[in-house]
Amino acid sequence: MTNVAILGFGVVGSGVAEVLKRNGPHIDAKVHAPVELKYILDVRDFPDSPFAEFIVHDFSVIENDPDVNVVVETIGGAKIAKEFTERALRAGKSVVTSNKELVAEHGYELMRLAQEHGACYLYEASVGGGIPIIRPLKQCLAANEITEICGILNGTTNYILTRMIRAGLSFQDALKEAQQNGYAEQDPTADIEGHDACRKICILASLAFGRHIYPAQVPTEGITGVTLADVAYAESCGRKIKLLGRAIQGEDGKVRAFVAPHLVHGEAPLAGVEDVFNAIAVKGNAIGDVMFYGRGAGKLPTASAVVADVMDAARNADRPKYLDWGPGGEDVTVPPEDVSSPWYVRA
Ligand code: HSE
Repeated sequence: MTNVAILGFGVVGSGVAEVLKRNGPHIDAKVHAPVELKYILDVRDFPDSPFAEFIVHDFSVIENDPDVNVVVETIGGAKIAKEFTERALRAGKSVVTSNKELVAEHGYELMRLAQEHGACYLYEASVGGGIPIIRPLKQCLAANEITEICGILNGTTNYILTRMIRAGLSFQDALKEAQQNGYAEQDPTADIEGHDACRKICILASLAFGRHIYPAQVPTEGITGVTLADVAYAESCGRKIKLLGRAIQGEDGKVRAFVAPHLVHGEAPLAGVEDVFNAIAVKGNAIGDVMFYGRGAGKLPTASAVVADVMDAARNADRPKYLDWGPGGEDVTVPPEDVSSPWYVRA
């Protein structure tokens, strides 16, 4: 029997509750045991919600309940979310998260903490929303030496760029639309300045290259400088402007990672990735090129990945836990030589 506590009843947290409820019988059948929602931690009350009975306001209720074995952290940020994650792991509870900031900044130390306490720390939803990318890198592509990852990793900015290209909307109007649709982070700065994509490429690069790559090591430029004139210029030369996160492992073993708007050739697969969709291309030395595509943001797509991790934690509760990557360091990355150039042309 798995009892689940959700921390944070926002867009993703409420999506997780909904998926657990809607797909309950299917989930139980796949796990071969019941998976039940027990608590939802939030500072607010939700008297009109069908989940009102689960709301608690004090994390220690969850921490001290020995029947809670999986905690879903959908609070976001790296402060209170980190404290609660650490306390849950120390109490031997597995933690599942969609919080890319926390994983990108503290993934290595949190995985170690989980290992010390016989728990799992799982983060499939932290990159690409509902797209399976963490588990494929960890398991299905494990036999490969990965040489490059390149992706459209932020749904909000892809939506904004698509609306600028397709409808001629200004950057500000397109951003407003993205916020109304619930795609943008609470503070859209993380999306539009590229920090969200930077965190995601750090997680993917850490996983692919085996040591922690920190956001501070990754030169990052967002899309706030992109104008309708730039969009028109790109169109005139058969290209689309896309915000890409890239990580390449050179022959010297060092990682070159960066986030920047790119002029992508109109016929390249990434040029056709529109709206809130994300796509991640991975190059492996056995598989060659492989690409992952789907809804990179939104309530239910992200909840889909979170609940899959909950199921994995429920099924693997008694297995030994391994670290997904090792410690980082100054010497593992170098900025690309041409990083001072604001935009990159990708054929
Ligand atoms: N704000 C993020 C995005 C949400 O737009 O991609 C999913 O991480």
